Amino acid sequence: MSDGDESISLPGDGVLSPWFQALDAGIQSLGQLLDFSSDMFKRMAREQHDAVGVCLDTVAGGLSWESPETVGRKAVATGTALITGGTGGLGTEICRRLAADGNHVVSTYIAAEKNVAREWRRERAREGLSVDLYECDVTDYESCRALARTLEERYGPVEIIINCAGITRDTLLRKMDEGDWHAVLDTNLDSVFNVTRPFIDGMIKNGYGRVINISSVNGQKGQFGQTNYSAAKAGMIGFTRSLALELAQTGITVNCVCPGYVATSMVEAIREDILEGIVAQIPVGRLARPEEIADAVAFLAKRDSAYITGTEIAVNGGLWLG
Ligand code: CAA
Repeated sequence: MSDGDESISLPGDGVLSPWFQALDAGIQSLGQLLDFSSDMFKRMAREQHDAVGVCLDTVAGGLSWESPETVGRKAVATGTALITGGTGGLGTEICRRLAADGNHVVSTYIAAEKNVAREWRRERAREGLSVDLYECDVTDYESCRALARTLEERYGPVEIIINCAGITRDTLLRKMDEGDWHAVLDTNLDSVFNVTRPFIDGMIKNGYGRVINISSVNGQKGQFGQTNYSAAKAGMIGFTRSLALELAQTGITVNCVCPGYVATSMVEAIREDILEGIVAQIPVGRLARPEEIADAVAFLAKRDSAYITGTEIAVNGGLWLG
């Protein structure tokens, strides 16, 4: 396990037989080896990419839109990207994509899902993807502040934040209880403040940052049975536009991606007949693939996307054209 995975340990608690413990130890070592090689490979690839970037800037005769300080920093960038809800269907794809683009990827899990997170990390290691996982409750500001302190101490300023943690509690308002309302607002909207706020000073000091909030088509158009979810997702859009204005001159962009209905467990939980009715209304005629959303996120996360801020990219198959 890497440093970042301190709060996730693999089995070996004395309940397993010695044979299984030995097997498990072997699997752990292999996992560590995979993590190490994959980290090394990505670091080399990133350094090569940055070196070529600096080279091209020079070849272009100084016709660069970036200051020499920025180009200098690029060559040593750690490129840490924090993805909340990274172990979910959409989050996993975003982790893959940002790692493939050379970022050092960090994600979060809540204490109650430690075992799920441990298994998720093992699966990612098997596919050669290294993600550092930290326990953090995004509904709790202090928990997020502690995460910011730890990540900044270990890796320096975080460059990319993807606010992707989200839940649904779909029901008609007249059947909705206070718990359904607060759970969705806390996890989907308050979390955006809780996570973004503690990292902003570091980003400003660093003169660079990408904040990408995963909103929803249903935050743009509303949805029957989703007053809580639509309110939270619409709130993310307001937050995004306002923060983009506040940070416009700091090198930090703030944007939303608004997915439509994506083939993940969240959408698959919708009653079959209702989901069929929804898909029938999507002009493209199918659910989105998680990769199609991750592509839009990766686009906004690029250094070159510096002039796009305060906006929403809709990836909804034409379901809502605004
Ligand atoms: N417009 C108008 N009326 C509707 C309607 C609609 N879209 N959908 C249902 N109704 C009517 C029904 O016909 C029914 O009428 P009657 O009482 O006269 O029969 C009444 O409203 C109650 O509907 P349901 O039977 O569906 O009520 P329910 O309590 O069983 O289920 C629900 C409510 C759970 C909200 C269900 O309708 C549902 O799952 N809807 C889909 C919600 C949805 O789209 N969720 C997205 C989750 S994924 C996600 O959020 C990711 C993302 O970003 C897109």
